[in-house]
Amino acid sequence: MTSVRLAPLAGVTDWPFRLLCFEQGCDCAYTEMVSAMGYLYAPKDQPATACLLERHPDEPRLILQLFGKEPDIMARAAEELSSTGGYEGIDINMGCPAPKIACAGEGSGLLRTPDLAESIMKQVVKASHLPVSVKLRLGWDESCINVLDIARRAEDAGVSEITVHGRTRQQQYAGEANWDHIAQVKQAVRIPVLGNGDIFTAEDGMRRLKETGVDGLMIARGAMGNPWLFSQLKALTSGGQAHIPTVHDRIEMVLRHYTMLLNWKPRRIAVNEMRKHIGWYLHGIRGAAQMRARINLIDDPEEVFAVLREFEQQASEA
Ligand SMILES: Cc1cc2nc3c(=O)[nH]c(=O)nc-3n(C[C@H](O)[C@H](O)[C@H](O)COP(=O)(O)O)c2cc1C
Repeated sequence: MTSVRLAPLAGVTDWPFRLLCFEQGCDCAYTEMVSAMGYLYAPKDQPATACLLERHPDEPRLILQLFGKEPDIMARAAEELSSTGGYEGIDINMGCPAPKIACAGEGSGLLRTPDLAESIMKQVVKASHLPVSVKLRLGWDESCINVLDIARRAEDAGVSEITVHGRTRQQQYAGEANWDHIAQVKQAVRIPVLGNGDIFTAEDGMRRLKETGVDGLMIARGAMGNPWLFSQLKALTSGGQAHIPTVHDRIEMVLRHYTMLLNWKPRRIAVNEMRKHIGWYLHGIRGAAQMRARINLIDDPEEVFAVLREFEQQASEA
């Protein structure tokens, strides 16, 4: 069975959003990346870390993603977190391109130090009570595409599954993901390989599955404001028809997302965080840009709800 997953997305994939993706058929999701060092040394009840680690009881399958560059710290964090009972797996981040992380040798920076990357994978596998996966990019830059080497090292280290984002660190999120390299990784190792990069429609996903034979897909930006991508992919893989959400569907999704966030986070933070989600959910609908500009000035959720209802009414009459 092809696994279709929600990628780790810092600032996006908290439990309310993950839950909405699960409802639409997502098979497995990841937490936002968590610093192993931050987890071990920052106070455990610090709201920022606690939020990242939180899982809703209705989430069926959640993998915790860790980043860091010290093998012993990564291993200790993996050992502790894998024994909480809160997750189905531990994922090692070897893809984050943010300068603060990558240039410090963490995230995609580990692709430049394959021996250190290998040592981290071995120690995390040894310390974790759960299966360990790794999320890679193709390499640091075009002149150093070493994903095959890292993937083989991962397999030898006992990693149970690999995800490849088909870009180099230098590309960040620009250009197109190169799925030929992803297909090569699939050929090179026996453990499952998931492909990631530029799946924005169910058709994109179907095409990549056919072309590469990967064991699953990981979806990131395509799911933002569009949890229906999971149900659409599920429908196509089982020979059915994809449901295209109506404006009503989208507004309902916004309201449910908003309500969950309000019930979980302080009101000011929830209102602020929902602004970006609303922009994504309503992207492409006529008048959405103006409505979004209006909502960005409103601090009262009830007022936001009223504007959304008004927008739905106008859109249905247009
Ligand atoms: C806002 C944002 C946050 C991200 N956060 C993470 C993260 O915490 N961990 C990670 O491994 N990748 C992270 N990524 C990378 C995505 O998981 C994914 O690999 C990348 O966006 C390519 O997939 P896509 O083309 O489907 O978006 C992030 C990407 C974006 C745009």
